[in-house]
Amino acid sequence: MTVHIGAEKGQIAETVLMPGDPYRARWAAENFLDGAELVNEVRGMLGFTGTWKGNRVTIHGSGMGMPSLSIYANELIRDYGAKTLIRIGSCGAMQEHVGLRDVVIAMSATSLSTPSSAIFREINFAPHADWSLLKNAVAAAEAMGAKTHVGGLYSSDVFYDERPDLTEQMTRHGILGVEMEAAELYNLALRHGARALAVCTVSDHLQTGEALPSAEREKSFGEMVEIALTAAFPG
Ligand code: HPA
Repeated sequence: MTVHIGAEKGQIAETVLMPGDPYRARWAAENFLDGAELVNEVRGMLGFTGTWKGNRVTIHGSGMGMPSLSIYANELIRDYGAKTLIRIGSCGAMQEHVGLRDVVIAMSATSLSTPSSAIFREINFAPHADWSLLKNAVAAAEAMGAKTHVGGLYSSDVFYDERPDLTEQMTRHGILGVEMEAAELYNLALRHGARALAVCTVSDHLQTGEALPSAEREKSFGEMVEIALTAAFPG
């Protein structure tokens, strides 16, 4: 047990999928894993471990934002030995050619700050994905017929953003979408010798104002779970 995770050592798999929403973790475990068992419910942050095609997998919520994700990812990696961590989430599109329901696979994640900023200090570190996971995820997404984009995400500290000029600069520099977790997941994985990837579906569009209805979010979430599992276990 750790401060925020009630699982016993050994109850967490080396491969962990991390949706932001704990209920999404439960949905994914019920729909994709065999023999899924609840291994954490401290503070309502649900984690489940089961198998997918015979491979052990944990699906654990990250919460919203990098400070929350940092707590869970730190404990999963350092205390439970997680080696592969894949964020499955949503993002807001920042480019015209990126549409609702498209899949964005993050090669890198730009941020204003992360929980790691204090240690990087004067360094502008470039948090980036694990290449083998990235390659496998792109192959899986394309094989499933998903409209897939590979490039940069912007990991913002705020959902209600009062700085439209920042969004404009991100768009101008080719960033595909905005979310709130990927950069710190990449920082932590790189620091501790783990592998990380963020796969996001586009739930809303910053330029057009369109948003996916909630019923459709479930379907695109399922697609991401499959992409993430196939990326971790390409077979
Ligand atoms: N901003 C931040 N995070 C998000 C957004 C957004 O517009 N959409 C989905 N996650």
